[in-house]
Amino acid sequence: MTTPDPAQMITPPAMLGILGGGQLGRYFVMAARTMGYRTTVLEPDPDAPAGKVADVHLVAPYDDHAALAEMAATCAVITTEFENAPAGALRSIEGLVPIRPSPDALATCQDRLAEKAFLDDIGVNVAPYMPITTADHLQAAADFAFPAILKTARLGYDGKGQVLVASIAGLAMAWDELGRVPCVLEQRLFLNRELSMVVGRTVDGRTACFPLAQNQHVRGVLDTTSVPATVPKGAEADAAELCIYIAEQLNFVGVLGVEMFVHQHDVLVNELAPRPHNTGHFTLDACPTSQFEQQVRAICGLALGSTNLLMPGVAMVNLMGDLWANGEPQWQFALTEPSAHLHLYGKTEARPGRKMGHLTVTTGTAMGATSLARRLRKRVTG
Ligand SMILES: Nc1ncnc2c1ncn2[C@@H]1O[C@H](COP(=O)(O)OP(=O)(O)OP(=O)(O)O)[C@@H](O)[C@H]1O
Ligand SMILES: [Mg+2]
Repeated sequence: MTTPDPAQMITPPAMLGILGGGQLGRYFVMAARTMGYRTTVLEPDPDAPAGKVADVHLVAPYDDHAALAEMAATCAVITTEFENAPAGALRSIEGLVPIRPSPDALATCQDRLAEKAFLDDIGVNVAPYMPITTADHLQAAADFAFPAILKTARLGYDGKGQVLVASIAGLAMAWDELGRVPCVLEQRLFLNRELSMVVGRTVDGRTACFPLAQNQHVRGVLDTTSVPATVPKGAEADAAELCIYIAEQLNFVGVLGVEMFVHQHDVLVNELAPRPHNTGHFTLDACPTSQFEQQVRAICGLALGSTNLLMPGVAMVNLMGDLWANGEPQWQFALTEPSAHLHLYGKTEARPGRKMGHLTVTTGTAMGATSLARRLRKRVTG
């Protein structure tokens, strides 16, 4: 492992730019500001969580030429907080300012077909799949192993843009439902576990992995993350090796979230997130360096921070807009617990299915933390 080169570092009070103004951007901005950097957020929503904490909020579409030109002129480096940042727009300023991760890496991660082709190419296992991009593919799917999930190649998140397909008879209708856009048909697997890991990587190839996380999704949306993951000895080191390999092959700079399925005895990569990941939020309260501070360190070429788990067990539960059905949740019922850390993202409108915040519990075991976090979440709605 090389040591960081001070001459290549971007240091405070440089301006760091980020495309996207959601909660991931908000934490990035807060981490950068803590270290003395200035920040510019490009985000069309004037009320977005990151805009409220940034030095400069450019309220414009992500592909707005004037806004991108302003970022290129004022920022020392530009990053993103969501995979759908238009890679093409970023390419237009690529020669003017470092963009980390690169538009090429973003383009791979924002299209499920490109992502799976990339993973296939580098020899990483994924769930059995086939592309559905033309009517001919519908015929070709006759031999596919159903049940399967049809997923749009682009713009899906939190389980959106996905339809469960029980048999070949339902495929054409499912494709119609998704607007006949390019899709991936993926075998629906019986999963032993869902795991994820966040890896940071610098431009000179230094890497650091956060602890392996174990996740539970409810109706396609992340509900709970528990750490340490309950995996056999050696599995965490294997996962770290896999994530570093993927980051290297992508020539990735920044932090990369890798979602994994454990199916029978195989680890399959589900998808890549070219940014901090919801399952890495536990690092805010349970690691010396959060995934967001690591994003700052990685894109600025600093030393990557320590990623140890400081507590024997930690769990994070998402707080979705549904909890606001009868008004503001009764936070006092969670805040009596010293090991609980409440995070709210400053979103003004609580819609069902919208991620409004999360609650982290740090305690003696992952299992204990998980059940306490869930209990506290229940308590706040009375
Ligand atoms: N092939 C599969 N077999 C079984 N379960 C699956 C499969 N694909 C997806 N799922 C379930 O649905 C969840 C969401 O799927 P996926 O990660 O593809 O979608 P997404 O919309 O990108 O989600 P997110 O943005 O929240 O990560 C997975 O974490 C898993 O629980
Ligand atoms: Mg996912």
